[in-house]
Amino acid sequence: MRKKAAASSIPTFRVKRAPVMETELTVPGDKSISHRSIMLAALSNGVCKITNFLEGEDCLSTAKAFRQLGVTIEQPEPGTMIVHGSKGIFTAPEEPIDCGNSGTTMRLMCGVLAGQPFTSRLFGDPSLSKRPMRRVMEPLAEMGAKITAEGEGGTPPLVIEGGPLKAITYKTPVASAQVKSAILLAGLYAQGVTTVIEPSPSRDHTERMLEFFLVNLRREETRTGVTRKPGPCKVSLLGQQPLESRDFAVPGDISSAAFWLVAAAAQPGSRLLIKNVGLNPTRTGILDVLIRMGARVREVIDVDRGEPTGVIDIKGSTLHGTIIEGAEIPNVIDEIPILAVAAALAEGETIIRDAKELRVKETDRIAAIATNLRAMGVEVIEQDDGMRIMGTKKLKGAKVTSFGDHRIAMAFAIAGLFASGETIIEDTACVQTSYPGFEAALKHIQKGNSILQRHTHVISSLGPRRGRKAAKK
Ligand code: S3P
Repeated sequence: MRKKAAASSIPTFRVKRAPVMETELTVPGDKSISHRSIMLAALSNGVCKITNFLEGEDCLSTAKAFRQLGVTIEQPEPGTMIVHGSKGIFTAPEEPIDCGNSGTTMRLMCGVLAGQPFTSRLFGDPSLSKRPMRRVMEPLAEMGAKITAEGEGGTPPLVIEGGPLKAITYKTPVASAQVKSAILLAGLYAQGVTTVIEPSPSRDHTERMLEFFLVNLRREETRTGVTRKPGPCKVSLLGQQPLESRDFAVPGDISSAAFWLVAAAAQPGSRLLIKNVGLNPTRTGILDVLIRMGARVREVIDVDRGEPTGVIDIKGSTLHGTIIEGAEIPNVIDEIPILAVAAALAEGETIIRDAKELRVKETDRIAAIATNLRAMGVEVIEQDDGMRIMGTKKLKGAKVTSFGDHRIAMAFAIAGLFASGETIIEDTACVQTSYPGFEAALKHIQKGNSILQRHTHVISSLGPRRGRKAAKK
């Protein structure tokens, strides 16, 4: 867990304007996929070796939770987890399960624990303790689990009395991968066919990984209108199917890559190559948005062993405002803080709407983004479900806070790379939840260096000739 800092030494980033970026790097393993790799391996019928596992605090909370349920998980070397699957049969935890800051751990664990013949208690840190849980409690109650929220208005701690479950068909009011995944995981324990219908597609890592573990799923997607926009989608699975144990390599996290993508995209003359990064189409919305804003982006898939993984090549230019709305929102939900920074650096206005979900993330991200951008001299109109941002090329350095939210901390560190003077981001220990190594990478990029590190592995600087060759690949 995150260490408590003494009042006088709250972890802080201090950032100054950076030189043009010309580099190759890799980012740590994907957070969403790392969580699921532990969960599905634990549900499987044998030993699974997971590589490039994200050893951030959130995913370690998931590993610890499964250890409390009696699952043996070895960590022979950094980034490798060996999970001894127990066919979904777990033992009652002796202590309440601490989900830390991780909404994914808590909501997905609800699905697994709903099917167990024992009672468990889940709690989290102050931020998680404010997050809404009825969205998973309601469908799981329909399936037969008894879940009580001890916090105000359906917030944690949660007490889950698991038991035999029945399959349901559930229409989620908003596209949420956490809700969909909790229902599908519970569906594995149910008799009959469980179906989840979403208004538009959310990330599909659970479905892909279930298929990778040889579970049969039925997926139906619709496209609507002349623009073939993604419409409602449906996923069904028959309960009681075994998960065949398999080894799994976690791709790099595009949500972590997003910070460097924007740093490169907003700087004419920059060139960045990110390797071994996840290119699942339910997560690559950031590339579409940056292309619309004027960045030159190419992606190439190298391997697809359950998750498409490859290279992103991005060249910076002058960015222009855009509109981010509708079915695109679930695809970029975690990237809105850094896209708001891109919008602040663009010419013209950017409108973000249909994103009310941002109000119930690790912090109220709409309020946090608006407060910090205004502190840096940007005009922002906050709306209930989004914001309007007037781009300015003149960000001014300021003292801002992360509001305890990792993605706010990292987004504003990138803003600092473009600002006059110094930008101080306070309360940055939260970055450990998803991106250990971010600060070290930031320091190297600020200096224009290319030094090898464990988490953000800067492979090399691209000289002009090498750059041309790589672009042709
Ligand atoms: C996640 C789903 C998203 C995302 C979160 C991770 C997941 O949340 O914001 O960071 O791993 O399933 P919602 O499902 O609430 O949209």
